[in-house]
Amino acid sequence: MLEKVAELQSEVDNFKASKIEEIEQFRIAFLGKKGHLNDLFSAFKTIAPDQKKEFGKAINILKKSASDKVTLLKASLEDTLTQKNVYGDLTKPAEPILIGANHPITIVKNKIIDVFNRIGFSISEGPEIEDDWHNFTALNLPEHHPARDMQDTFFIATNPNILLRTHTSSVQVRHMETNTPPIRTISPGRVFRNEDISARSHCIFHQVEGLYIDTDVSFADLKQTLLYFTKEMFGKSKIRLRPSYFPFTEPSAEVDIYWGLETETDYKITKGTGWLEIMGCGMVDPNVLKNANIDSEKYTGYAFGMGIERIAMLLYQIPDIRMFYENDIRFLNQFKAVL
Ligand code: PHE
Repeated sequence: MLEKVAELQSEVDNFKASKIEEIEQFRIAFLGKKGHLNDLFSAFKTIAPDQKKEFGKAINILKKSASDKVTLLKASLEDTLTQKNVYGDLTKPAEPILIGANHPITIVKNKIIDVFNRIGFSISEGPEIEDDWHNFTALNLPEHHPARDMQDTFFIATNPNILLRTHTSSVQVRHMETNTPPIRTISPGRVFRNEDISARSHCIFHQVEGLYIDTDVSFADLKQTLLYFTKEMFGKSKIRLRPSYFPFTEPSAEVDIYWGLETETDYKITKGTGWLEIMGCGMVDPNVLKNANIDSEKYTGYAFGMGIERIAMLLYQIPDIRMFYENDIRFLNQFKAVL
């Protein structure tokens, strides 16, 4: 008889359950009316008197451990059930985290800012809706000046004095009005021109313009700064300056970098010449300094300006400028790995 009790005891000790029904079955089998323990208690009467003590002790232990087991298993099962409700299934693999990407315009803008920050340029920003003075007149483009046609302008409603800035040179005028030389600043921002939209041009685009004003600033300083920039930005160290015209700089030039002719794409983007135009620049016209109340006898300066889209198209081989503004997730996703 004792052997039977020991057998049942080890069954109780080893019993495990993951469902409430299993625990209930176990409870009925051991502690129910027709369960093992009731059987054993009835059998107690038939046990020889000298074994009664030992047998009684064993079945009492068995009863207690069976009922403890039921309580314990029920409690722990309830725990896991409530945990599941609060935290979900803790054994489930984590959901993948969807990481966004910086827009290529932001990536390139930050790169340009970083390169100029390293040589002491600060960042200046200004309004996208400008007045005539800051966008044109102060920049040596008085009313009716033919060069105003170089940048087709969006005017605000019927007021010809208020417009969407056509370049961020307007920010530089504001910066000169509120700061005294030495001035070393770059102005990144969105600009607007009333142009037909095509693969190569858009009515909205972005620029970074730079301005440096101090005593004895020369064209050689400009050239070295541009050379530094092209090396850092593109890893190319051959540039050329082609004479050009801007109303706010004199002399003025267009900057080309030698891109090379190694691949078919090089041929395509440089139209077979190896050279690429990337920006305009020049020495700040003394009239512009005067308009901003800077002594043009004492100070000289240089300025430059470039389009961010153009540079992003070069760096990432983007064939159509419109892709920047369509927000097609398949396009944007490709910049995930770039910071
Ligand atoms: N503001 C000129 C443009 O938008 C670029 C430029 C800036 C050229 C500074 C010369 C000097 O086209």
